[in-house]
Amino acid sequence: MSDTPVAENRLFEPTADFASKAHVPSLEAYKELHARSLADPEKFWGEIASELTWLKPWDKVLDESEAPFYKWFTGGQTNITLNCIDRHIQAGNGDRVAIYWEGEPGDSKVLTYQDVHDEVCRFANTLKKLGLDKGDSIAIYLPMIPELAIATLACARIGAVHSVIFAGFSAESIKDRVLDASSKAVITADGTYRRGKELLLKNIVDEGVADCPCIEKVLVVQRHPEKEPFAHDWKEGRDFWYHEAAEGVDSVCEAEPMDAEDMLFLLYTSGSTGKPKGIMHTTGGYMVYTYLTSKLTFDLKPESDVYWCTADVGWITGHSYIVYGPMQNGVTQVMYEGAPNWPGEDRFWEIVEKYKVTIFYTAPTAIRAFMKWGDQHVTKHDLSSLRLLGTVGEPINPEAWMWYHKLIGSEKCPIVDTWWQTETGGHMLTPIPGAIATKPGSATVPFPGIDAAVLDEEGNECERGILAIRKPWPSMLRGIYGDPERYKSTYWCKWGGKYYFPGDGAIKDEHDYFWITGRVDDVVNVSGHRIGTAELESVFVEHPSVAESAVIGVPHEIKGQGLVAFVITRTGAEGDEDTWRKELTAMVDKKIGKFARPEKIVFSNDLPKTRSGKIMRRLLRDIAEDRPLGNVTTLADPSVVDSLKAKYKG
Ligand code: PRX
Repeated sequence: MSDTPVAENRLFEPTADFASKAHVPSLEAYKELHARSLADPEKFWGEIASELTWLKPWDKVLDESEAPFYKWFTGGQTNITLNCIDRHIQAGNGDRVAIYWEGEPGDSKVLTYQDVHDEVCRFANTLKKLGLDKGDSIAIYLPMIPELAIATLACARIGAVHSVIFAGFSAESIKDRVLDASSKAVITADGTYRRGKELLLKNIVDEGVADCPCIEKVLVVQRHPEKEPFAHDWKEGRDFWYHEAAEGVDSVCEAEPMDAEDMLFLLYTSGSTGKPKGIMHTTGGYMVYTYLTSKLTFDLKPESDVYWCTADVGWITGHSYIVYGPMQNGVTQVMYEGAPNWPGEDRFWEIVEKYKVTIFYTAPTAIRAFMKWGDQHVTKHDLSSLRLLGTVGEPINPEAWMWYHKLIGSEKCPIVDTWWQTETGGHMLTPIPGAIATKPGSATVPFPGIDAAVLDEEGNECERGILAIRKPWPSMLRGIYGDPERYKSTYWCKWGGKYYFPGDGAIKDEHDYFWITGRVDDVVNVSGHRIGTAELESVFVEHPSVAESAVIGVPHEIKGQGLVAFVITRTGAEGDEDTWRKELTAMVDKKIGKFARPEKIVFSNDLPKTRSGKIMRRLLRDIAEDRPLGNVTTLADPSVVDSLKAKYKG
């Protein structure tokens, strides 16, 4: 990750062949679209929304009367599953494959859109049979099996609010989320696989919901219906096998009419405090925006494309670009359960070859891992079906971009580097392939409808500053569940509350291209997963020997960023550093999940602080990155830094 974006001048034009067939075939076409979308957003979004099925037309496209609590398509009614499923069947495409599913051990399944319809309806009717209804909150803790997409859509079908919890989160994280959302049920599976190892998900859920009185039902999908279930405990009256509960239910379920502003889902994400926030997304605007971004960013051609997004549905990428966006477009997609390096380091490329994938969307961290594993795993497979590549979740370094371009894309596939967030619901900055020439490491230009700018603290446009979104867009978050004040103070805290503040730094270059420079708050992006440093700090201080800690993000060759923890132990604390290190790591596993483990834990007697007692994280970063120290004049005790430096290296 040595190369810096600003010095990058290479420009890759879309090929004439790609452009001629693309939805947006030229730079002029993009410019016209973008200008039109900003000149009259209500007209623009109204026209796009008209391409979809509504049960009742909207009265107003955008209601700004309670800004920053914006509303879209007010008065309108729909159900997003009508657009994900029924619309395609009505158009005669029920036989089209919706999902090619590949299990980690090599089992597989194919579901057509008609199959998805029947499965979603059965699942929806089963939820109803268990007493779940419109407006109920349902947690989903499932691995990447088809039932994850099915259960998500089933909740939407009956108007229940889903809260998907990534199946790598710990029991305590489940508990926090279930309690915050007051979920009435959890949908889980007995187990799944990760690198050949069994993961007993049901048992993690049991531990997670043990102290959650709101949970009435636990619905369990059996990973291998034809075999013995994975080892599990059972609580009679609360727990139900899905296949038993679904016996005899109907495969038709009318879609519940939903107001455009009815909540579709909650998804928890990290912020700069110790408590994850429940991001709220509603029905109409999210539907319209994920539909259009999927169509244009991926240039989707449902008749011929095989699309594969390698994210997990547990993150926003999987919500918007596995479940809702691609399915609204009626495209065929691949869904894979397991690790990229199981059983071999070529598993992804084997899958691309097997299903003749045409569009491949992954994270820079995965690309860097592939680079490290070696080109031979790629070159032994036929990847000629690919026509478009994408990245998401973190900045991509130009070196990884070039490798992706050459090795995976054979120098012919455009790469869409999509910048967006859980909060934005869909792509915000991205090249539109066929129209926008790309530069390695730049997310390039705003999507139609998006008014993005790089601003200084005063709100003036500048070259290097903070990213701002200056107009509302349909899939913007509607708030933080249960905490409207935090919504305002987090996202509308700058520029007099006029513009959305995403928390990222950015540069705008001479071509008006955007380069994301990373978070400007205390959020670290580890392998594309957001982790608040305060979350780890609040875990550490629960340890009896810990007095205080400071966690920072540092550059990491594969993960993009890694976490480093500086920990002050209490005077006279019992134990030694090795024991504490093991105990603290185990606490992170238990309270958050293994993916949040720090790379390094440094124990010390003190931390660099200002005279008023504030930890100077900037200096900690200088120490970790072995840089000359910045301004130290405000430091209370300058000698702390030298001893920390020695400790860090040791
Ligand atoms: O810092 C940005 C980074 O990921 C953050 C959003 O994280 P999350 O809500 O988990 O969503 C990830 C998937 C959309 C952003 O604030 N980020 C995301 N995409 C990019 C990126 N940074 C640089 N380039 C990107 N393409």
